Amino acid sequence: MLSFNPAECLQRQVYKLMTGIIVPRPIALVSTLSREGVANLAPFSFFCGVGSVPPTVLFCPSLRAPDSAEAGKRKDTLRNVEETGEFVINVVSDAISAAANAASAEVPPEVSEFQLSGLTPVASEAVRPARVAESPAQMECKLLQVIYTGRAPGSGVIVLGEVVRFHVREDLVEDFRVDPAGLDAVGRMAGNTWVRTRDRMELIRPK
Ligand SMILES: Cc1cc2nc3c(=O)[nH]c(=O)nc-3n(C[C@H](O)[C@H](O)[C@H](O)COP(=O)(O)O)c2cc1C
Repeated sequence: MLSFNPAECLQRQVYKLMTGIIVPRPIALVSTLSREGVANLAPFSFFCGVGSVPPTVLFCPSLRAPDSAEAGKRKDTLRNVEETGEFVINVVSDAISAAANAASAEVPPEVSEFQLSGLTPVASEAVRPARVAESPAQMECKLLQVIYTGRAPGSGVIVLGEVVRFHVREDLVEDFRVDPAGLDAVGRMAGNTWVRTRDRMELIRPK
């Protein structure tokens, strides 16, 4: 084995180790609204569910990287969540993977990634940010807590939210069971590599 002490590595090297080892990661396509009312959309793959009572999720918009012109600044998504307390997580299916990728462009806050990506906003029920109409499943969330793991450029920030509404395309859900083939979710590996969820296996859990 090769061993690495993160304290002796560059931020970029640690990031590469983490995104290479922690795979595959699901992708949250996060919709937020700025205080000025601009709709923002961006994908985040440091994302997971936390528990179902209450239904809780987290995603992690890091502070801008050391090599960025805005090193250490908050991404638009984080700023919007902190200012408004609301967000929507849209599942990324294979059909909208290119559009979700287009939404990751680093553009100024006044530009809406809905327009960049060609995805369609549709009104949410319990929060102000829109859902993505083309996404097969969406979760409307209210902010619970924001945890800064550091304040340096590249530091991770954990956004914890409570799901206040689930939406699943009607043909994909039966008795609360979601059809994984129909959902056709994609995930992220390292760098520009993504992964599909079409190669599945069953394992019966021991009693
Ligand atoms: C598939 C994918 C996954 C990503 N995951 C993350 C992530 O977990 N955390 C993060 O800070 N940025 C992540 N990014 C980069 C952001 O999407 C990108 O910085 C985006 O411009 C942020 O937009 P915002 O400033 O509108 O919030 C990811 C990009 C892609 C394409």
